[in-house]
Order: sequence, then C-alpha cells, then structure tokens
Amino acid sequence: MAGKSNGKGGAKSVSKGNGTKKPKKLKQIAIYGKGGIGKSTTTSNLSAALSDLGYKVMQFGCDPKADSTNTLRDGTYIPTILDLLREKGRVEAQEAIFEGYNGIYCVEAGGPSPGVGCAGRGIITAVQLLKQQNIYEELDLDYVIYDVLGDVVCGGFAVPIREGIAQHVFTVSSSDFMAIYAANNLFKGIQKYSNSGGALLGGVIANSVSSGYQKAIIDDFVAQTQTQVLQYVPRSITVTQSELGGKTTIEAAPNSEQAKVYRELAKRVEAHDVSVTPKPLDPKELRDWATKWSDQILAIEQGEVRSPGALI
Ligand SMILES: Nc1ncnc2c1ncn2[C@@H]1O[C@H](COP(=O)(O)OP(=O)(O)OP(=O)(O)O)[C@@H](O)[C@H]1O
Ligand SMILES: [Mg+2]
Repeated sequence: MAGKSNGKGGAKSVSKGNGTKKPKKLKQIAIYGKGGIGKSTTTSNLSAALSDLGYKVMQFGCDPKADSTNTLRDGTYIPTILDLLREKGRVEAQEAIFEGYNGIYCVEAGGPSPGVGCAGRGIITAVQLLKQQNIYEELDLDYVIYDVLGDVVCGGFAVPIREGIAQHVFTVSSSDFMAIYAANNLFKGIQKYSNSGGALLGGVIANSVSSGYQKAIIDDFVAQTQTQVLQYVPRSITVTQSELGGKTTIEAAPNSEQAKVYRELAKRVEAHDVSVTPKPLDPKELRDWATKWSDQILAIEQGEVRSPGALI
C-alpha cells in the first residue's frame, strides 16, 4: 500500500454498541453536484465520519483536478491512476491507493493531459483497474464513495451510475438556481439509466443552506422531483478554517457544531437503504418553478407578503 495512515488508526471492523458485528455488505455511493458546490468537502467529511464509526472506507476522486482526497491527507495530493499509467505503462492497484485520515483509502482517477483526450475515460480506466484486481474485496471495504463531477456531461462521468458500479447517488446542491439546474440534469441521467440497472437517487445533501428561504426552495424542489433531502449542511467558517489547515472538519474540529452535522450525515447514509428514480422537471416546468420562487422572494422583500416561517 502506498502512503501512510496519518489518522488515529481506528477500529477496522464494524462493531455496534452492544459488541455485535454487522454483516458486511459493500455500499458504493456516488456524489454528484454542480462545480464548486461542496462535493469534495462533503464527501471527505462523510468518509471521515464513516471511518470514525468503524467502517472501512475508500474515497475515489473522479475529477481530473485530482483534489478530492487532499483534506484527508493533510492537504497533500496523491499521484493519480492515469498519471501512474502514463509513467509506468502498467499499475498495480496498490500503488495508486494511499491511506489518509483514520486509514481511509484514497484514490484519484485523474485525467488526460490538459487539452487532450476525454476526461471521462479516466474514470472508466481507474474503476476497471481496481475491479480487475479485486481490490474492494481484498481490502474488505464497507464503503466506496465516488466523488464525481458537476454534470453528467459525457458518458465517462456517468460511469458510476450507468455501469451499476454505485448503488446510490447523492447530489450536493445549494438553493441557487444553477445548482438546482445541475441536480435536475443529474436526475435526467439517473432516470435514463434506471431501467438498465443504473444507480438510483438516495437524496439531496443541501449544502450551504442556512436560512429559511434557502431551505424552503430546496424542500420545494425535492417535493416536485419526488426525492428527499438527506441532510441540511450550513455554510460554516469552521469548514473554511479546517480546509486552510489541510484537514476535514471532522479531523480539525471534531467538537464543532459543523462536525456534528457531518456525523449526522454519516448516520443517515449508514441508515439509508432504498433509493428511488427521481422525476426531473422538464425545461418549461423548471422555468415556471424558478419564476414562482423569483416572484415569491420579491414579494417577501417588498413586504407584500409575510414570509411563512420567516423565509428571509
Ligand atoms: N458548508 C460549507 N461551509 C463553508 N465552506 C464550504 C462548505 N462547503 C464547501 N465549502 C467550500 O467551498 C469550496 C468548494 O468546495 P469543494 O471543493 O468541496 O467543491 P466541489 O463541488 O468539490 O468543487 P469541484 O466541482 O471544483 O470539484 C471549498 O473552498 C470549500 O471549503
Ligand atoms: Mg471537488
């Protein structure tokens, strides 16, 4: 195994409070969402919180930027599978797996040289490499969490959904329209592959959602698309401070309110079982929905309506 654990070296088997061991079943999860919305931050804190619960976790960065796992490794970057392949021609999966906080296995798929080739191919190649070498079984993993991309813009980025690699998809979204637009596009991708054994939607992780109206917008969107919010995650300076220190909030500020939120998220992911086929809005429905919220916010701002539950 490349790299060293920099964490606490926690429990390796899943023991519950009463000492009984849960039967092991690998859960594979893909996290999608608009660029810059907080996927890697949320994923890394989720991985850290799941590992603190005693699970064996692999975080698999699928972004050509290869920055998914850096807060699990003190702000350092690891060589990607595609880098190693370019350098050596053949790669043993173990050379591309690095241990991070609490023994979390960190992998970055990487991408082609900038300006050349297809970025989605990196994911296909990297996933195939680990699968062919039976790494998930060998490492006896409980969770593989794929930190994917903004949009299902090409077939490569749809791989974790399309090939049945992930069983559950979670999307990170704020209440901003473009984040919701990206989530709605993702729902279209999930719906498209749902009949051929693709992954289904576990829910929305509502990131940077702090005020009443932000919550109301997200709640309405999930109601319209027949999905659910798994967890609300507020915007927090603790996240900023931890990231600047090269760490997850779980590691840097375990007693903070924000760490509690990420631990709650991990418990909800742990308890989550059944995912669904979302019902995306068509372009006209989405436009009408957005206009309705635009009018509503304007009316509240102008004091024409009292905001129910102090929306703003
Ligand atoms: N809840 C939060 N509170 C404060 N800052 C946050 C929160 N979530 C994310 N951020 C910050 O937002 C920035 C972008 O987050 P992140 O890199 O996780 O997004 P991403 O979706 O992975 O981006 P990309 O699409 O580029 O991979 C980071 O600097 C991160 O610290
Ligand atoms: Mg990212």
